[in-house]
Amino acid sequence: MNPSDTLLPHDAPWVVVKFGGTSVSTRPRWDNIAGIAATHLAAGKRVLIVVSALSGITDQLKAIGEAPADAARCADLRDTIVARHHALFGEMGLSRRNGVDAWMAKLDQLLADPRRNTGELAWQAEVLALGELTSSTLGAAYLNSLGLTTHWLDSRECLRAEALPNQADWGKWLSASVRVRHDPQTAAALAARGNVFIAQGFIARSGESATAVLGRGGSDTSAAYFGALLKAEAVEIWTDVPGMFSANPRQVPDARLLSRLDYAEAQEIATTGAKVLHPRCIHPVRDERVPIRIKDTNRPDLPGTEIVWNTQSSAPSVKAISSRKGITLVSMESISMWQQVGFLSDVFEVFKRHGLSVDLIGSAETNVTVSLDPSDNLLDSDVLARLCTDLEAFCRVKVIAPCAAITLVGRGMRAMLHRLSAVLAEFGALDVHLISQSSNNLNLTFVIDEAVVDSLIPRLHALLIRAEVMRIGDPEIFGPSWRELAEDAAAVHRTSWWRRERGKLLALAAESTPRYVYCLDQVREQARGLGALGTVDRWHYALKANPHPDILRSLHAEGFAFECVSWNEIAALRRVLPELPAERILFTPNFAPREEYRAALAAGVRVTLDALHPIAEWGEDFSGRDIFLRVDLGAGRGHHDKVKTGGAQSKFGVSLSEIATFRNLAREHGARIVGLHAHLGSGILDAQHWRSVYVQLASLAEQFNRIEVLDLGGGLGVPSRPEDVPLDLAALGAALEEVKQAYPQFQLWMEPGRYLVAEAGVLLAKVTQTKRKGEVHYVGIDAGMNSLIRPALYESWHEIVNLDRLDAPPEELVQIVGPICETGDVLGNNRRLPACQEGDVILVAEAGAYGAVMGSRYNMREPAAEVCL
Ligand code: LLP
Repeated sequence: MNPSDTLLPHDAPWVVVKFGGTSVSTRPRWDNIAGIAATHLAAGKRVLIVVSALSGITDQLKAIGEAPADAARCADLRDTIVARHHALFGEMGLSRRNGVDAWMAKLDQLLADPRRNTGELAWQAEVLALGELTSSTLGAAYLNSLGLTTHWLDSRECLRAEALPNQADWGKWLSASVRVRHDPQTAAALAARGNVFIAQGFIARSGESATAVLGRGGSDTSAAYFGALLKAEAVEIWTDVPGMFSANPRQVPDARLLSRLDYAEAQEIATTGAKVLHPRCIHPVRDERVPIRIKDTNRPDLPGTEIVWNTQSSAPSVKAISSRKGITLVSMESISMWQQVGFLSDVFEVFKRHGLSVDLIGSAETNVTVSLDPSDNLLDSDVLARLCTDLEAFCRVKVIAPCAAITLVGRGMRAMLHRLSAVLAEFGALDVHLISQSSNNLNLTFVIDEAVVDSLIPRLHALLIRAEVMRIGDPEIFGPSWRELAEDAAAVHRTSWWRRERGKLLALAAESTPRYVYCLDQVREQARGLGALGTVDRWHYALKANPHPDILRSLHAEGFAFECVSWNEIAALRRVLPELPAERILFTPNFAPREEYRAALAAGVRVTLDALHPIAEWGEDFSGRDIFLRVDLGAGRGHHDKVKTGGAQSKFGVSLSEIATFRNLAREHGARIVGLHAHLGSGILDAQHWRSVYVQLASLAEQFNRIEVLDLGGGLGVPSRPEDVPLDLAALGAALEEVKQAYPQFQLWMEPGRYLVAEAGVLLAKVTQTKRKGEVHYVGIDAGMNSLIRPALYESWHEIVNLDRLDAPPEELVQIVGPICETGDVLGNNRRLPACQEGDVILVAEAGAYGAVMGSRYNMREPAAEVCL
């Protein structure tokens, strides 16, 4: 049975997910919607999908509504609308068009309706509603065709428009409001019908049977209404941007993603400029305390912006700077205003009569200046002229336009005024027409001439950060910058997941340091990259690189077998994966005691010998066994001499000159050599290396008669220094493929460690002390060589950043040192970092391989603990 058919338990939570026009206009976008809905369903949630009309359709329907008398134009528009929906229908590969055609017939019916002649508002609303009614019908058909049982819901069944005081007729039909509270009966009735629903944004019931629409941003608002009605666990607004930002990213590329806002702040930001979320959609969910999440359809893994009741951030901070253009100021001057009872009431009555809502107000003894915001007002020059004429009965009127309003938004604005001096100085040279500080202490607004605003905003944003009134170091509130997010997503993903997860990492560091943090998604991604090389018959993970249980489990799930170097590694692996067949374990010890070989053989694990001693002295142990022989091909490779495992200076493998002896001894004791193995070093970035190993092993195998497997070892490197060129996997694949064609008789095995885990791990530490000795500047951290010995042992280079000051410019050349009593206890030499302070979180990157596992208790200091994201 289809999982979406089984009704979820009665207390399963609801999630409302909303998709706008571009997100519903193509089949791949609908596949995406299906994926998001299915993920929620799989997590035990009921899903209500709210959709807009296909992009552009509402404008076309609106054009019909606005020019109903132009028959030719209406016919054209009608044909375009029908063709558009039929095209998507075809793209979706659906078979029955009845649903869509019924709505298109309704459009024809409305075009033939006598109300068209008068362009009646109720008729216009019905025309407009068709966009969402049709898109949701198409969507329901498509989702069902994918096997996701989805019920079509007419939003008008649930959302009823209410009349507002002073509402013009236009507003009643074309910009309606709905009052909703949590309605358990409706929620229960829906829950009894199914798990997944699709409904229309933008439309509501008016009166008994008429239709009203909600005005601009209506689909967001519908999603919020449904969120409140169902008391959903969350309302997710899926868009094409990663969330709300501390400024308009198009003006300010360094604008930061706002991770968390409270309703009031989000309301202010939405009202004062940000277009991501319609301001009207906050109020309905706030009353029911339903969180809103803004998510990026293209990058669903990004955290987005979460809007909640309380952000728990007590410190006052400017969250955003926004700007609105097209502001009109009306300045009203009158001597008679002074102590005149009812003056304001008289003038505001004039605004009301002209259907204009007033936004900002500044008043003096003889002057009142107000702003009219174009988003709320249907402001044209006629309306303005009539307004002025009427106002002139009371005062002298001056219109100042075009203006722009610049607003700083943040809780506790008044407590930050003293730190705004640099910001205020920027306004010194400008004509500031009006300043307003909201009574809710959430915003500070400056109205200036429109022409200067674009160049001013980036400067102000930078000044807010510099003055630390915009506290971008607070990971609860501020995420990455737009610039960072816009970097090649693949590159960002490949090398620095930790930049994306900075907030979580800082939170983990706040709990305790030093600490290794692993990102399993990164491990899986590396594994899949290797898995895609079809030539390798079996991949093993060399668990010496990092035996963390979650990593072992993840790689097991990705189809990896395992390579172990000690009996304890085998035992640990079997504890984590008790069901793992022994045959999937390869034991490649070196100078290990006899008991370990015996234990491995007894357990049925495949054993590799890399010296004559075992076969010569303990030959009977291997009698009747299949074994692998590790050979030393004469020269090692690797990132440092200490990791090269070939040549006489290295203790590994049987040298080529002794292979015949080994073979004779094996024959003597009745051991069968079924595999040849070579691992010549670690941290190799040249793809051709394994081709040469493969060729050498294959030709060697011809001296034996029963070789089945060639194991090329591990050693796959990852770039560490900025100038390193990453291993070219495609080239590796091609090289192996070529050899495989020459020697198809052998199975090809490999056993990488580092490649899978290095980039997936970071070491977090905190600054303990700083010190200057002559020219040399030290930054001490609480992780030393007992946590990460690689720099001391191999002079290895790990990227090191100050996670608290990730975006601050590097200032000082420093030595990053640990607390261990050794001169070699240095994690990074001559690094440029922003000035570091005690307590700052330092991140040492690419520490997932040979990091924690090489830790020690030297100086009786515990090495860094480990945690997975
Ligand atoms: N197979 C054998 C037989 C090995 O000896 C090794 C690593 C591997 C596979 C996995 O090598 P990988 O793919 O991880 O490079 N502690 C050093 C690395 C030592 C490697 C020891 N053998 C470091 O931190 O660079």
